[in-house]
Amino acid sequence: MGKGKVILAFSGGLDTSICVPLLKERYDFEEVVTVAVDVGQPEDEIAATTEKGKKISDRHYTIDVKERFVDDYIFPSVRANGSYEGYPIGTALARPLIAEEIVKVAGKEGAGVVAHGCTGKGNDQFRFDFIFRCAGLEIIAPMRDLNLTREWEIRYAQEHDIPVTVVKEKPYSIDENCWTRSIEGGVLENPARHPPEDIYAWTVAPQDAPDTPELVQIEFEEGIPVALNGEFLSGLALIRRLNLIAGRNGVGRNDMIEDRILGIKAREIYEHPAATVLLAAHYDLERLVLTRQELAFKESVDSKWSELGYLGLVHEPLFSALTAFIARTQERVNGTVDLELHKGAVRIKGRNSVSGLYSDDLVSFDSSTVDQTHAVGYSNYFGLQARLAENLRKK
Ligand code: ARG
Repeated sequence: MGKGKVILAFSGGLDTSICVPLLKERYDFEEVVTVAVDVGQPEDEIAATTEKGKKISDRHYTIDVKERFVDDYIFPSVRANGSYEGYPIGTALARPLIAEEIVKVAGKEGAGVVAHGCTGKGNDQFRFDFIFRCAGLEIIAPMRDLNLTREWEIRYAQEHDIPVTVVKEKPYSIDENCWTRSIEGGVLENPARHPPEDIYAWTVAPQDAPDTPELVQIEFEEGIPVALNGEFLSGLALIRRLNLIAGRNGVGRNDMIEDRILGIKAREIYEHPAATVLLAAHYDLERLVLTRQELAFKESVDSKWSELGYLGLVHEPLFSALTAFIARTQERVNGTVDLELHKGAVRIKGRNSVSGLYSDDLVSFDSSTVDQTHAVGYSNYFGLQARLAENLRKK
C-alpha cells in the first residue's frame, strides 16, 4: 500500500531531482509535490527549475519570496554586519524562509510529510529540519538516509530520464540566492588545489577587471541601503545592480576553510559582490555614528546574531531579542558612504551623516576650541593603577 503524499523542497539540482523517483520507488509515496522557492536565483534558473518540476513531479509550485528575503533576512543581516568566519552569510539566511514556504504548501496540500535533498554532512539539513520540526512535520531526507554518492546519483538520474547539468568533470554543488553564491565539491575538495576560473559566475578575476577604479555611493536609512549612486531603488534592485557593478570589478570572491556545524572542515568558495560592498559601507557608517560603547557592545551582539543566523535558529528567542537590540542602534545609522572598486579591492573613500559624532572642531590640528591644557588633569589620573603596579614591580 502506498503512503500518500510528500512535499519536496525542490531546487532543480541533481539531489532534489532524483528525490522524485526515489520517494516513489524507495519510500512508496504515491504523490510527490515539488516546491521551488525563488530567493533571487538567476531568472533563467528559476524558469528551468519550474519547467523541470512540472515535468517530473505530480504537481509543482514555484513561490516568489525574493522581495521578502531581502527585506526580512538580508537587510537585517546588513544591520548586524552578518558574517560567519569572515564571509557574508547567505545560504543560511535563505533556508528558514524556504522551509517556511514548504510548510505552507504542506498545510494547503494536507500533507504531513516533507522531504529535502540535503546530505548528512552539511549544514542545510539542520536548518531545514529545525523549521520542519517546529511545524510538527515528518521529515524524509533520501541523500542522508541512503548514503548516496554523486556518481551513483548521476547514473540513477540517467536511468530515470532526468536531465542532469552536473557532469563528472564538473560535479559542483552550487547554492545561489541574490546575496551569495557558493560552490563546493569536485576538484575543489582538495583544499590545496587552485580553483578553475570557470566555477565563477558573478565576478571576473581581479586581474581581468578594468584598470580604472569605479566609484559607488551607498545611502543608508536606519542601517538599510536605500539608494545607489543617488538613485533610490527597491532592495532587490539595488542588490542586483550592485552585484553587476562590483562583480565586473572582481569584488566579492572568497576561497576559505569553513567549520561546518558538525565540526567538519570544508573548503568553500563564495561570490558575493554586493554583500562585500554593502557590509563594508555599513560597517564604516556605524563607526561614524555610534558611540564607542555601542560599537564595542554591538560587536559581540553581531557575532552572536550571525552565529544563530548561520545555524538557522531563527526561532531561538535570543535571536529576536538581539534583532530588536540591533534595530534600536540603527535608528541613527543614516547617511552616505563613497567607495572605490578596483581589481578586486573595495576601499572606503568618504562618509557623511547628519547623525555623525564626528566634530572637526574637536579633532582639528587647526582649531583652538578644545583647551588642550584641560587634558593635563585627565593625564594625572590616566593609568593610575597600572602606574602603581609598575612602581611595585620595579622595587
Ligand atoms: N557552507 C555554506 C553554508 O553552510 C554554503 C552551503 C551551500 N549549500 C549547498 N547546499 N550547496 O551556509
